[in-house]
Amino acid sequence: ATPVIVAIDGPSGTGKSSTSKAVAAQLGLSYLDTGAQYRAITWWMVNNGIDIEDPSAIAAVAGKPEIVSGTDPKAPTIMVDGVDVAGQIREQDVTSKASAVSAVPEVRARITELQRNIAAAAAQGIVVEGRDIGTTVLPDADVKIFLTASPEARAARRSGELKNADLNATREALVKRDAADSSRKVAPLAKADDAIEVDTTELTLQQVVECVVTLIEEKR
Ligand code: C5P
Repeated sequence: ATPVIVAIDGPSGTGKSSTSKAVAAQLGLSYLDTGAQYRAITWWMVNNGIDIEDPSAIAAVAGKPEIVSGTDPKAPTIMVDGVDVAGQIREQDVTSKASAVSAVPEVRARITELQRNIAAAAAQGIVVEGRDIGTTVLPDADVKIFLTASPEARAARRSGELKNADLNATREALVKRDAADSSRKVAPLAKADDAIEVDTTELTLQQVVECVVTLIEEKR
């Protein structure tokens, strides 16, 4: 079979990562978490004292960090200059700064090129999750999914992951990050015209996975 390219986009807390990993594992495909790449470059900026409020300062060093993603859906990895940053990129500080860093065009150009190279190298095919995969990174993807869910459901899922009791604060942070990601000039969070929208509010992870697997198998 020819490699199948699957783009899964949507805001945070819709189940993108869990769904993408499970679908890739079930179908024997590679997996790429593009949010982890933007978090990784954000981590590097913070660690190197770059002023996050200054897009030109970010642009000037956008090409410096070496970012390497491991694409096994059962054990994805993310390294920056040889350092495993999988834990640190999930911290609140990096999460809250990622939208500003990822809005810088030089950052997006750089990371987008990495993503296209990884997708092209995946022999069996790949599931790529993010915000702009179907619209910008891989506009010719074989299957495009756009996951949505109510802000309440998304905040509840994130709180569970973070073991954080404050649901309101989580919801506010999510809504703020989505607004920033949706309103940026370059490659905003958006549903591609030819993407299939799946509202996961009332669905279990297993139901979403089955739905996406079925859509892929129909195209193969
Ligand atoms: O998906 P995740 O929450 O890990 O993404 C972190 C941030 O990275 C997003 O809020 C967004 O600013 C950025 N991002 C992006 N484009 C993508 C994936 C993530 O701009 N394709």
